[in-house]
Amino acid sequence: MSKRSSNARFRRAAAAPPLPTRTVPFIVYCLRQFRGLMLLMLIFETGQAATSILVPYAVKAVMDAVALQPRVDDIWLAFERPLLLLAGLAIAEILFSRASGAVLIIMGPRLRQRTSRLLYAYLQQHSPRYFANQFAGSLAHRISETAMSVNHTTWSVLCDFWPISITFIVSVALLFGVHDGLGAFVGGWVLLYVAVSYWLATRCQPYAQRYAATRSLVNGKIVDSVSNMLNAKLFARLDYERDYLEDFLETEVREGRRTFWYMERVRWFQFTAAALLKFGTIGYALWLWNAGAIGVGDFAMATGLTLLVIGDARNLTRRFLEFFEYVGNVANGVDTIVKPHEIIDAPDAKSLQVSAGRIEFRNVDFAYEPGRPVFQSLNVVIEPGQRVGLVGFSGSGKSTFVALILRNYEPQSGQILIDGQDIAQATQDTLHAQVSLIPQDPSLFHRTLRENIAYGNLQADNDAIRHAAVMANADQFIAAMPEGYQSLVGERGIKVSGGQRQRIAVARVMLKDAPILILDEATSSLDSVTEKTIQDNLDRAMGRKTVIAIAHRLSTIAHLDRILVFDQGRIVEDGSHDQLLAQKGYYHRLWSMQAGGFLPDDAQS
Ligand SMILES: Nc1ncnc2c1ncn2[C@@H]1O[C@H](COP(=O)(O)OP(=O)(O)OP(=O)(O)O)[C@@H](O)[C@H]1O
Ligand SMILES: [Mg+2]
Repeated sequence: MSKRSSNARFRRAAAAPPLPTRTVPFIVYCLRQFRGLMLLMLIFETGQAATSILVPYAVKAVMDAVALQPRVDDIWLAFERPLLLLAGLAIAEILFSRASGAVLIIMGPRLRQRTSRLLYAYLQQHSPRYFANQFAGSLAHRISETAMSVNHTTWSVLCDFWPISITFIVSVALLFGVHDGLGAFVGGWVLLYVAVSYWLATRCQPYAQRYAATRSLVNGKIVDSVSNMLNAKLFARLDYERDYLEDFLETEVREGRRTFWYMERVRWFQFTAAALLKFGTIGYALWLWNAGAIGVGDFAMATGLTLLVIGDARNLTRRFLEFFEYVGNVANGVDTIVKPHEIIDAPDAKSLQVSAGRIEFRNVDFAYEPGRPVFQSLNVVIEPGQRVGLVGFSGSGKSTFVALILRNYEPQSGQILIDGQDIAQATQDTLHAQVSLIPQDPSLFHRTLRENIAYGNLQADNDAIRHAAVMANADQFIAAMPEGYQSLVGERGIKVSGGQRQRIAVARVMLKDAPILILDEATSSLDSVTEKTIQDNLDRAMGRKTVIAIAHRLSTIAHLDRILVFDQGRIVEDGSHDQLLAQKGYYHRLWSMQAGGFLPDDAQS
């Protein structure tokens, strides 16, 4: 039951919606399902801002009462209303701020989850070429950075910019109520201050972004060095590695200082502007009081409001600086991950129906990079149930041939058909469900052996899993492990040997039982005795499947129905082992050079 539901979850994630490619629309998209919570937050933040502004107003009421009667008998009686107002404001402020805190707790982790989920689902659909050009570690880092930054950007707007704007507007309005001159003075200051802060923050953003990029570069270098620790030890290069990292750490210090010095300049502006406002307002208010234009209470309120404005203004500059840093982070993540997918299902893609397993290459042109073609109008038909061996020197295009069948890459022109259906018109999921691959260097999940084998068929029970393991000759070594099928295999399967890893890969493909089977040097890491056993089991498991097997050891494919000899992207010979030997051509030369062992790396050796 639980297995089925986790399977359903996976499928839902795979159907990733397209994401906005620009930063702000992306953030808005992430926030879409939180409209109600955000509205609540705006209300609570408004309440909190309003209560904090009203405090100077209550102080004014106290001061006015004080000015009227220099000495009283009963403090409570004389100041009852303003004191009640003050107490009410204090309580309201606590309630509003904690209510807003509660909304943040409810929404924050969910928002982060949503952003990560969206980005991960989008990432899944990228092509093998994309992943070949990116570091897995840095992609994972990007996802969590971006999710965190979307949260921070949202909080900046809801919990900082919004209440600060309210404080500014209401304070200035109250000051206008006291005296037009005072209102104009503080209002002008606020406008100028916000404009300059904003400008400074945008100028600071490139520094902050470069600093962030340096940090993530240094992070990447450290990860690379740590994962190659064994190499460093084997070559006695521990000192070298420390020196190597030192350069990057030094760059990080330089970039950090550059950013912080710039921020320091911003702070100089901030403190100077705040001092000007403080003395300006107090001086101006005193002068007005002296001239009889305002009362003592007004004076106290003006001072209180000014201090409030200064406090918020200082906060605002810091928030601006952070805000642009977060926006930069989101932009970075969106740029890296939300790129157009290279290989997408056609809009009307159908599910691939494989009954016989006939594979046809029709005039296929393919190049990894423009100007360096691997295949030029390649034509070949592999009949249903045929077992075909691919041979040829390293770099002749064998792996590329199977990569095209798996649609890891798309031909520049021509078609690849399976049972008459163009694979470019089929969904990738149904294609991959019906073609199995055992790669040369299979990698495993850092999960239990059982989970790794069951990956071939999530519904498989223990008997089926064990049977597959026996067929792949893996049962014995698994049973000998301390925790048997529950043993963890380490990152990418590092804790089992290369040959054991290959046998797990064989087992999970046997469990998958797809009608088309591709082996790219599938048994190359095995000793000849183990290889022979697996080969026999594989032959039995192949049954009526269409099989394509790449091998450097010709003996492992000599018994197959048909052999294709590749040379620089062309199929130069095609026939059974005996036919090809009789031709006394390319294959014959390879076979004689090999004496039953390995193919040399090139014709010269
Ligand atoms: N990801 C790639 N990007 C660019 N060029 C590539 C890529 N993969 C392979 N090539 C090039 O394509 C050509 C065919 O490579 P391919 O991997 O298909 O050879 P192969 O026959 O499988 O060799 P081997 O026996 O060494 O596995 C080679 O010249 C290779 O350098
Ligand atoms: Mg290869």
